[in-house]
Amino acid sequence: MTIEDQVSDFYEKTGWQDDSGEYADAQLWEDLRPAAAAYVSACRRKVLDFLPASGERILDAGSGPIQYPEYVEYSAGFAKRVCVDLSQRALDEARDKLGDRGEYVRASLLDLPFPDGHFDAAVSLHTIYHVDRERQEDAVRELLRVLKPGARAVVVYANPDRLAARLMRLARRGRRGSPDAGPIYFFAHPLSWWRRFSDEAAVEIVPWRSLNANESRRLIPDNALGARMFRALLAFENAFPRAATWSGCYPMVVLTKRGRP
Ligand SMILES: C[S@@+](CC[C@H](N)C(=O)[O-])C[C@H]1O[C@@H](n2cnc3c(N)ncnc32)[C@H](O)[C@@H]1O
Repeated sequence: MTIEDQVSDFYEKTGWQDDSGEYADAQLWEDLRPAAAAYVSACRRKVLDFLPASGERILDAGSGPIQYPEYVEYSAGFAKRVCVDLSQRALDEARDKLGDRGEYVRASLLDLPFPDGHFDAAVSLHTIYHVDRERQEDAVRELLRVLKPGARAVVVYANPDRLAARLMRLARRGRRGSPDAGPIYFFAHPLSWWRRFSDEAAVEIVPWRSLNANESRRLIPDNALGARMFRALLAFENAFPRAATWSGCYPMVVLTKRGRP
């Protein structure tokens, strides 16, 4: 089974099931508690700071089912949002949300069925790190290929070198297996890896979210104090973006394709 088969199989059979009103993906990887609500919403909306307000076509690479209301806002000013995913279930759910404001294409990020320079913008959240580590560069170059010159791709990725991740790796050393291994393939390159795209794009890395859901559920209580802690975290990310990028769990990589629009 290839990595793509494994990921697609997981999302088809499990990840995008919503028997209890929340997708299995969200139950695994999102902090769904009330105290976290304003924070996670503000993080999702950070993507908007890097997208044009309007345009013809925006690509959502690994769209999933457009699972949160803030995600719908990314394409509000665009004539079409083109959702690409390996999972048909994801695309069917996305269609329920966007209807004829979307197009739904079952395809791989490694082989996007669009001509060069087709899109005014692109987003890809939590997807590139599920691509085979040896093929992630190809996936990012595909994203850049289909963008118009001067257009942007916003990628939410993971930071494997932050202190907390290093400590977790140290603590795990010597134990058999990996207690944190998820149900699907995951690999994140160091943030310095993104410099290789400087030949094709201006590369900027900014904070998206400091803690993953496991960490925030463990460290921050679901009450008024917790809500204050989340507000402080957001204020830290806004005031000290460099420090928050290097210490945070999920960076946002903004690639602006070189060339004249
Ligand atoms: C973790 S989910 C993220 C979904 C959505 N972007 C979000 O943030 O909620 C990853 C999605 O990417 C899709 N995916 C993973 N690898 C892919 C690939 N190589 N090509 C196309 N889609 C892929 C999966 O099927 C899944 O729907």
